[in-house]
Amino acid sequence: MRQAGRYMAEYRAVRERLGFLELCHHPEAAAEVTVTAVERLGVDAAIVFADILLVLEPLGVGLEFTAGDGPVLQRPVRTPADVARLAAYDAADALAFVYDTVRRARQGLAGRVPLIGFSGAPFTLASYLIEGGGSQHYVRTKSFMYQHPAAWHDLLALLAGLVNAYLRGQIAAGAEAVQVFDSWVGCLSPDDYRTFVSAHSRAAMAGLSALAPVIHFGTGTGGLLTAMRDAGGDVIGVDWRIELDTAWSAIGYDRAVQGNLDPVTLFASPADIRRGAAAILNRAARRPGHIFNLGHGILPQTPVDHVRALVDAVHELSAAAR
Ligand code: CP3
Repeated sequence: MRQAGRYMAEYRAVRERLGFLELCHHPEAAAEVTVTAVERLGVDAAIVFADILLVLEPLGVGLEFTAGDGPVLQRPVRTPADVARLAAYDAADALAFVYDTVRRARQGLAGRVPLIGFSGAPFTLASYLIEGGGSQHYVRTKSFMYQHPAAWHDLLALLAGLVNAYLRGQIAAGAEAVQVFDSWVGCLSPDDYRTFVSAHSRAAMAGLSALAPVIHFGTGTGGLLTAMRDAGGDVIGVDWRIELDTAWSAIGYDRAVQGNLDPVTLFASPADIRRGAAAILNRAARRPGHIFNLGHGILPQTPVDHVRALVDAVHELSAAAR
């Protein structure tokens, strides 16, 4: 998660030439950024350089990234009439530049590590569409959900169809696994998740597991893990707010889990980072099906050497455990 990002000098150098969206739309540069991050860090998988919000751009909502403030949508969805105006588009066409990045990144990786594709999940995408950007309490999103349930379900169904086509396109282009980011779904109660979201997440992931492993991720989801598992995913991604073993036993050992070091641990000393990694590996208890990862994205001020130290520690500790 944000394996390539502003904490890395190589990435900042590319960003001096290209704006963030411009970079995403430039397959050659985006593939290079993907591969450089893997080489710099020594990680065991690459994640294609893109953004969850790219799938919203062809809807004509005016996606922009302003320096420092994160994403902004110039024409947010605020009413049922706004939903009715949104038109599904052909993901094969409109997002072809991402598939091109996937193909080029596979070439650049030359089989060294597998490549992960990704998309936002319907709820998290809808939250950006409705809020017009990031949010703290999701008041607009939830108000829309409660006040206009029919339009809400229409909106999430539209997004689920686009996400499913988009992920199929990435897999066809060479993505060897896909991650579905429902980053902000942890703001919902379990009842609201089941009423307003789970069927759409299931539709977004429908049929994908037969093509490639699917990682279903969210943050703050300690109370939603069983509902998220029921919605789908071969792997459930968890953040650090729950212990990995507690999460895994709730999810069930028939699924794999991914996680779950607090990304802010990377600001501690290398010795403490190693202890943090060891604690998580101990909780995974050498069960097959644990993918070590951070619980969320790397922050811009993170020291790159500390990320390297984490990768080395995980490699050493998991080799020693065999
Ligand atoms: O290398 C990789 O890990 C792939 C890159 C990746 C990006 N975004 C690049 C990015 C991935 C996997 C994402 C996913 C993403 N994007 C999520 C889900 C993961 C999560 O954090 O929960 C979300 C919610 C977004 C939306 C988004 N994109 C936000 C909120 C922001 C601004 C936040 C910030 O850090 O400024 C972005 C911008 C963004 N996406 C950057 C990068 C490297 C920073 C943009 C820049 O270069 O200025």
